[in-house]
Amino acid sequence: MSQRSKHVLVTGGAGYIGSHAAKALAAKGFVPVVYDNLIYGHRWAVQWGPFVEGDIRDRAKLISTVRDHEIEAIMHFAAFTYVGESVARPERYFNNNVIGSLALFDAAIETGVRHVVFSSSAAIYGIPDRAPISEEAPQSPINPYGETKLIVERALHWYGAAHGITWTALRYFNAAGADPGGQLGEDHLPEAHLIPLVMQAVLTGKAVDVYGSDYPTRDGTCVRDYIHVTDLADAHVAALEYLLNGGASVALNLGAGRGYTVLEVIQTAQAVTGREAPYRIVERRLGDPDVLIADPGRAERILSWRPQRSTLESIVASAWAWHAQPAKATPR
Ligand SMILES: NC(=O)c1ccc[n+]([C@@H]2O[C@H](COP(=O)([O-])OP(=O)(O)OC[C@H]3O[C@@H](n4cnc5c(N)ncnc54)[C@H](O)[C@@H]3O)[C@@H](O)[C@H]2O)c1
Repeated sequence: MSQRSKHVLVTGGAGYIGSHAAKALAAKGFVPVVYDNLIYGHRWAVQWGPFVEGDIRDRAKLISTVRDHEIEAIMHFAAFTYVGESVARPERYFNNNVIGSLALFDAAIETGVRHVVFSSSAAIYGIPDRAPISEEAPQSPINPYGETKLIVERALHWYGAAHGITWTALRYFNAAGADPGGQLGEDHLPEAHLIPLVMQAVLTGKAVDVYGSDYPTRDGTCVRDYIHVTDLADAHVAALEYLLNGGASVALNLGAGRGYTVLEVIQTAQAVTGREAPYRIVERRLGDPDVLIADPGRAERILSWRPQRSTLESIVASAWAWHAQPAKATPR
């Protein structure tokens, strides 16, 4: 007798990381049921299972979706993600990211869904006093976006203990790159991430801003840990399987475990594309730590997962293949 494939609710699955995770889920025999209000996501990015257009703050719609699709676990990506905007408009972030997540967890409790894989962030660490950063580093976010992620982690801790929900909080560093099959990529509007901005600079000839060149790093620009989005997607499937196999709730850093400066990213883009990536040095931004590098050791041990594609060359080459497509931004 054939077993029914497990159905997984993927909130925010029309977005950048969620769509790559949906593809990875389908490749492992799961059915990803994408739940997204399309405020930032794209309908064309939903290609591997059913789509439900809805808001995570709509508890009744969540409950009916979980029941209709016989959902057994949740991957929760849906959130607002613009750090600068979160400082100017914190109410927007607490409302969507916190109240939305609580509505989702209420729906899980009510319907008996017992596993949640949550998109947390390195932003919960604030300005770290060490590199690499382990999960035990102090948690002190310096913006409302990071604060919302930490609050949701804490809610998961208490909801899980009370209601028998097991969860993983996956604290990503900088997600980057694109699906090696060319079906998905990063398509944010507005774009705030370095690698797509550098790709746009290559394509348009318009300089990308580099915020500060006087940090205590090897070339004066900030160091970040870039993790290929496909590696992230694979870690999500591994985290889900870990929970389905009875694994205990845990927070895990997801990064490559090494860092590159902004200028190294620009130089790599020039080498990969064979074209100039114009840039200009501008003032530092408030609240940018000089170095952010993950210690991904716990994720590697617990999930038996290792980044496979997260060299800077591989990330930039996949991003370039995506951004250089002529029809990229049009629905397919
Ligand atoms: N991109 C990164 O480098 C990074 C780093 C750390 C953490 N994260 C987290 O990963 C997750 C995914 O990030 P992303 O870069 O793919 O962002 P994204 O904006 O591409 O995807 C988020 C998706 O959530 C949807 N959404 C937002 N609010 C919703 C709501 N109320 N109801 C239903 N859908 C809603 C959007 O339409 C979008 O499709 C987010 O939770 C983000 O905070 C991302």
